[in-house]
Amino acid sequence: MELKEYLQTEAARIDAALDLFLPQETELPHSIHRAMRYSVFAGGKRVRPILMLAACMAVGGESERVIPAACAMEMIHTYSLIHDDLPAMDNDDFRRGNPTCHKVFGEAIAILAGDALLTEAFRLLSSPARTAGSAPAGLLAVIQEIATCAGSYGMVGGQVVDMESEGGHDIDLPTVQYIHTHKTGALIKAAVVAGALLGGADTVQLAAITRYGEAAGLAFQIADDILDIEGTTEEIGKDAGSDVARGKATYPLVLGLAAARVEARAMMDEALRALELFGAEADRLREIARFIVQRKS
Ligand code: IPE
Ligand code: IPE
Ligand code: MG
Ligand code: MG
Ligand code: MG
Repeated sequence: MELKEYLQTEAARIDAALDLFLPQETELPHSIHRAMRYSVFAGGKRVRPILMLAACMAVGGESERVIPAACAMEMIHTYSLIHDDLPAMDNDDFRRGNPTCHKVFGEAIAILAGDALLTEAFRLLSSPARTAGSAPAGLLAVIQEIATCAGSYGMVGGQVVDMESEGGHDIDLPTVQYIHTHKTGALIKAAVVAGALLGGADTVQLAAITRYGEAAGLAFQIADDILDIEGTTEEIGKDAGSDVARGKATYPLVLGLAAARVEARAMMDEALRALELFGAEADRLREIARFIVQRKS
């Protein structure tokens, strides 16, 4: 199967499960459940859940078992986007090709929809019905990994330094590297680590997958910075040029566009090198690493 078709097929699997796991709009309170579903189903690429499935496969696991954790990861990611777009943060009007959550539902409901998606993720991860068949110790390790990578040691920490670095004052490479590895890299690393853990990885496999996730995660955010400059709002489904407008600390700002492109490629190569011990079972992870830096949206 071609990569494009594979990504579509896996995204459809994730979407069907998300539809099942998320509260229905008919459940009270309607407004927040509508807002949660609006943002989740606005049209994301589902890169993190697909990475989780691919990492599970790379270590010889059964990907079906990973679907609930993969959906939990997408809920956390979507919450991070809803909050990222708020007026107090990046103040963006478009996301996934649609008006942002706060534009449609108001700021209060958008904040609460983010809160509820984050919480719902951990409800799902700890659901006995949804996780039957996974060993409790493995699940606990997955929950620990995802919580660490989502909070102030991970994504939230990166978002804090991103906000504090706004405005174009002297930003150095270590600072922007911290921002990117945390605000974006952490959840991507958590996705593949969780997939490997649930797939029954040994310690050598887990270390390799972790290195892959760190490198691919950084490459993902450098590519995001480049797309913010080179993409159109229509292509990327969110406000193009938002980073320059807000004086964001980005790789192109610190290194220039050409060197940022070289760095994204170098991170892709590092992600591929981390997979050297695997055979064809890791080919999807390899293809996704290439996709991450070549994508147009
Ligand atoms: C956007 O992530 C935010 C970043 C962390 C760079 P994606 O590019 O994966 O966005 P969706 O999920 O496809 O909308
Ligand atoms: C996103 O960084 C990081 C998170 C949402 C955690 P950006 O602010 O660059 O993401 P986009 O470009 O708005 O998607
Ligand atoms: Mg941001
Ligand atoms: Mg943003
Ligand atoms: Mg961006």
